[in-house]
Amino acid sequence: MRKWMCVATVLWGITSPAMADDRQLIEVPDQIKTIFLEEMRGHLDNLNEITLAISAGDFDNAAFVAETKMGFGHSLDVVLRSYGLPEPEIEKLVTQLSADNPGLDHMGLDQFLPTDAQALATEFHKAALNFAKVARSVELPTTAEEYQKVFTALSETIDVCSACHSTFKVE
Ligand code: HEC
Repeated sequence: MRKWMCVATVLWGITSPAMADDRQLIEVPDQIKTIFLEEMRGHLDNLNEITLAISAGDFDNAAFVAETKMGFGHSLDVVLRSYGLPEPEIEKLVTQLSADNPGLDHMGLDQFLPTDAQALATEFHKAALNFAKVARSVELPTTAEEYQKVFTALSETIDVCSACHSTFKVE
């Protein structure tokens, strides 16, 4: 009996609507997908560095990580070069992108995102920069209230990570 309940639970899991992945698909060239996901994994490391810095009471370093690694970033060619893409590839991608999207005003990999994902990317960079501002404003000796402010600003940043992940996927 227990075995069948197990099977039924698994089958329900597979067929239930909760399993449907209706996130919006972002299609990008293969090289960009690899770099985009690498950048994303980097963001998890950044969050870890930030949390460690906070736990060490090093608010300046927490702010530094957010500003330098989660802010608005560099132009697309600089980002692609930092990932070691060969110059002709970079030139091809940048030319292709400018032809597809005249009037781009976004930096780095954000340029490959559709408009509504770019809006979330902007929210993310803004939230990270706000976190940096809050972290820099902490005064010593640190009070519980200061920690609360810092963690609230960090949580507001993580909220945007989650909002984007539940809305989009890349292919
Ligand atoms: C503008 C949208 C957006 C924001 C903001 C964003 N991500 Fe992502 N992230 C994505 C998308 C899209 C994927 C691919 C998901 C998929 O295809 O299932 C992804 C994938 C990832 C992955 C998996 C990487 C892999 O190798 O598969 C990690 C880890 C990740 N993001 C971490 C983060 C963290 C941490 C933050 C915030 C600090 C963040 N992301 C902010 C859009 C975003």
